[in-house]
This record gives sequence, C-alpha cells and structure tokens, in this order.
Amino acid sequence: MTIILGLESSCDETAVALVREDGHVIAHKLATQETHHAPYGGVVPEIAARAHAEALMPLVDAVFREAEMTLADVDAIAATAGPGLIGGVMVGLVSGKALAHAADKPLIAINHLEGHALSPRLADQGLEFPYLLLLVSGGHCQLLRVEGVGQYCRLATTIDDAAGEAFDKTAKMLGLGYPGGPEVEKAARSGDPKAVPLPRPLLGSGEPHFSFAGLKSAVLRAQESGKYRAEDIAASFTQAVIDCLIDRTKLALESGGPVSALVVAGGVAANMGIRSALTDLAVRYDVPFVAPPLWLCTDNGAMIAWAGMERFRLGLIDGMDVAARPRWPLDPDAEKVRGAGVKA
Ligand code: KG4
Ligand code: ZN
Repeated sequence: MTIILGLESSCDETAVALVREDGHVIAHKLATQETHHAPYGGVVPEIAARAHAEALMPLVDAVFREAEMTLADVDAIAATAGPGLIGGVMVGLVSGKALAHAADKPLIAINHLEGHALSPRLADQGLEFPYLLLLVSGGHCQLLRVEGVGQYCRLATTIDDAAGEAFDKTAKMLGLGYPGGPEVEKAARSGDPKAVPLPRPLLGSGEPHFSFAGLKSAVLRAQESGKYRAEDIAASFTQAVIDCLIDRTKLALESGGPVSALVVAGGVAANMGIRSALTDLAVRYDVPFVAPPLWLCTDNGAMIAWAGMERFRLGLIDGMDVAARPRWPLDPDAEKVRGAGVKA
C-alpha cells in the first residue's frame, strides 16, 4: 500500500505525518509554537520560521521512529508549498525537497488549503465529489464546491476578515489570550449569547460572501462600553458568527448545485457551536454532514500527507524547481471580490 510522508509549516504549527493509502494515519507529530507567539498576541513570521527550522527534522525522526519505518519505506514526500508565511513555507518545502532528493522519491507540493479541503476524505473514505466545503481558518473563510482533486469552484469568500481572524482578534480585545478561537469558545460556555446586541454582516444578502470586520468593530465597542462581561461578549460574538456562517452556507446549498455532502474544514471547524449548527442545517437540507475529527481540523501533517496521496494516485508530482507561494488561491478563476484580494 502507498505510504506518503507529509510536512506542514505554513503558519504556527510544525507537523509531520505518515499516512497510508487506506486512510490509516500510521504516525503523526506536531510541535505548536503557541508559547513562542503568545507574548505578542499573534504569529510573528521570523520567530515562526526559525521555530519550524528547529522543530521539523526532529519531528520527521520521531514519526519514523514511532512507525518503525525509514525514508526508504515511503512512496513520496508531500510538503506544503503555500499559501502561508513564506519563511515557514520555505523551511517545509526545502526540507521536503532535501528528503526527496536524498531518498530518490517523488516530491508533491501541496496547497495548504487543498490539505484542509481534502482532509474530510481522509476521515471518511466514502465521501464522494462533489461536496460543498465550508473552509473556515485563521486566514480564510470560503465556500467551495469541491469537484475533484485540484478542481475547486469558489462560491463565496470573505470581503474583509476571515472567521478565525475574527475569533483571534475578539480574544485579544477581551484579554483572553492566544490562540484566540479555543479561548473564546471556553469563555462563551459561561456566557449568554443574547446578552450583547451585535451585527450579522451580510445576513440575508443575495450576494454570497462573508464579512466580519463590522462584527469585530462592534465587539470592540461593546468591550469599551464596560457594560458587558467578557463571557457574554464571547458568547454573543460566537452566536453572531454562527448565524453568518449558517446563513451563507444555506444560500450556497440552495444555489450552488447538487452535492453529496456538506463538509466543514479548517481550524474554526473545531468550534462545537459551529459544528452543531452545521449539523442542524444539513439535517434541514437532507444532506449528510461530514466534519473531520478535531485534530484534523486545525493544521496538521496528516492532511498534507493525504492531499499528497490523492495527487500521487493521479500521477500529479512536482519537479524540484517548484516554488514556495505566499498566496495560492484554490480557485484561480474565481472573480475578485471587493476588498478580498489579500485573502484569496
Ligand atoms: O486551520 P488553522 O489551524 O490555521 C490556518 O490555516 O489558519 O486555523 C486556525 C484558526 C485560528 O484563527 C484559531 O483561532 C481558530 O482556527 N480556531 C478556532 C477554534 N480552534 C481554532 N476558532 C473557534 N473555535 C475554536 N475552538
Ligand atoms: Zn490551516
């Protein structure tokens, strides 16, 4: 059976995994940089790149040790080649090239977003194309019709901030620490989602896109007013995000063409409130709902190895001259949306 080694280093997690053709994750390891970036309240690119350089090869060794395998046992090496913080991406891609060269194995350059987009097929081997994907991460908030490997039709994107970015900024405003998403989720558990009146940008709009900048500003005003508990702001904010995500996903289900399933991926998909609202939506629209397990939603090496597997099976391998890309849209034909150029 084919075995792929996957390397991920595009943001603040260094991650390595070995994945088998039948979807079995043989071994996976992850080094988070949370403590490196926490004092700054966000990811510092230079610190990230250096930390990836220090962590990556020891993780590769650890994964092979746990699997009781060597580089000779893998069929190909998949490395994230973008989009992301370019210093970190280069560390992973250059390491992937070096390993591929040393072991005389094919290299597969992976779009990090394709890693997220295909990860549900690692978790659920029966999931068939086309499916409607809500991709919600720190840098992206998109609805995509996934038609095949490398075939993505973007139905919607954010015109300003990504959903994860809104979670991270809300956490910072509320003094909840970094990384923001899980902290906001924790605080929201003891808050009232109806306590703070917050806007739902673009709710009910005929245009398909997302917007979170206005919500973020409203959170800041609520915080500065001194009238509300942080827990209530966190819960009300989360409810506003849920309402926006559900409304936009509903529109895509109604107008995006038939799909085999509604699928969610990306770090924000770890949020239980969002998962359960999407589950209800899928029931209402009579489509199966697929969400990868939590560890596969946030950045990890297995999703990169799996995207490598899907590409390898189709003979899609790359040359040693493949370049790292800070920007790399999944659907290059998608129309530019006002203000959204930097997010794609
Ligand atoms: O996919 P990911 O790990 O990295 C990117 O590619 O961006 O997503 C990270 C994002 C961060 O913005 C983080 O705050 C958010 O996902 N996130 C969450 C939760 N866990 C992570 N947002 C809301 N609730 C969570 N439980
Ligand atoms: Zn990601």
